[in-house]
Amino acid sequence: MLKPDAVQNGHAGAILDHILKAGFRVVAMKYTRLSEDTAGKFYAIHRERPFYGELVRCMSSGPIYAAILEKENAVEDFRNLIGATDPAKAAPGTIRQLFAKSIEANAVHGSDSDDNADREGNFFFSEFERF
Ligand code: CMP
Repeated sequence: MLKPDAVQNGHAGAILDHILKAGFRVVAMKYTRLSEDTAGKFYAIHRERPFYGELVRCMSSGPIYAAILEKENAVEDFRNLIGATDPAKAAPGTIRQLFAKSIEANAVHGSDSDDNADREGNFFFSEFERF
């Protein structure tokens, strides 16, 4: 996902360029906005965490781009491409180091396992929206 802060700050095109140049293929993509309810469901795994309320508020604050990306070793390679959750700790040249402002508004989300990638892809896309 390209998060609301990245879209609002005009970074969506540059971030997508980084992703494509890193060798990811777009299987599905949509521009949409999450309601608080939908953002809460997407991040239900974090419901008990202290940052959950702020995360849901941030993620529903404006439109996002959701995407399914494909590549050999995609989960690990994407997490290396985007950098640490906290942009202050993200390595130079990573998407979060370049484009994120804070840990809540950290520009992008990447699935942390193949199982979650399946779950999160199914959250946004039907089989007819994948190419
Ligand atoms: P993301 O990769 O989308 O997964 C969960 C999100 O929670 C994370 O990026 C951050 O935007 C947000 N978050 C806010 N505070 C924290 C924190 N202290 N630790 C981890 N994630 C946090």
